[in-house]
Amino acid sequence: MKKRVPVIAGNWKMFKTRDDALSFIYQVNTKVPAKEKVETILFVSPIYLRTLVKRQEDDLRLGAQNMHFAEEGAYTGEVSANQLTNIGTTHILIGHSERRQYFAETDETVNLKIKTAHKHGLIPTVCVGESLEIREAGKTNEVVKVQIVKAFDGISKEDALKTIVAYEPIWAIGTGRTATPQDANDTIKSIRADLAELYGQKVADQIRILYGGSVNPKNIKDLLAESDIDGALVGGASLDPQSYLQLVEAANNK
Ligand code: 13P
Repeated sequence: MKKRVPVIAGNWKMFKTRDDALSFIYQVNTKVPAKEKVETILFVSPIYLRTLVKRQEDDLRLGAQNMHFAEEGAYTGEVSANQLTNIGTTHILIGHSERRQYFAETDETVNLKIKTAHKHGLIPTVCVGESLEIREAGKTNEVVKVQIVKAFDGISKEDALKTIVAYEPIWAIGTGRTATPQDANDTIKSIRADLAELYGQKVADQIRILYGGSVNPKNIKDLLAESDIDGALVGGASLDPQSYLQLVEAANNK
């Protein structure tokens, strides 16, 4: 089986000014490992995406945190895939739970956005995850499976292979409460089994699945030690350059 290259993706959410972002990129740009060893991605505000793209070195990837699925149109305040690729963006975050919760993102729009992303050559990182209520009811795998099946509906094997999945239990986001490495791995294994049902085991074994939710330099090592966790999607701990580099270093030693 081909080794899955680990991914450390930072999701800056609605943090940082352009000056903060520039200072960050100058500090990490040349310190991240070769992309063949660890894929480093930063999902940033579209307002300074172009500024960062212009300064990005070869081994750092940049993406937006959301886009519309339509090619173009009367959608005030939205950003299209074409606008993103036109300024040199290569990656896109789709279906983050905050978008599902606060901005009416649904499994259907997530699916449409994945299709648009692939059409434009953007690499999507697709988020799934359960609420605390679902976890406590013991329905995590079942609920996450529905999200996966709907997200990948009509997505070809070739495009599925390019897609990154991020499992982020909603109750672990920004709460300091991380899923145990074992729990996270169990759910991620279940997601891989869902993908195997859709595309076969060989393809499922090549798709990167990340964990997200209160990941930090202290807990990253234990998470990455698990068999099926291929990296992390990180909010708070990705905002500081040194902390981000520590996460990357842990993945480099995986
Ligand atoms: P935290 O790492 O701040 O918990 O955020 C996780 C997240 O939502 C990343 O997308």
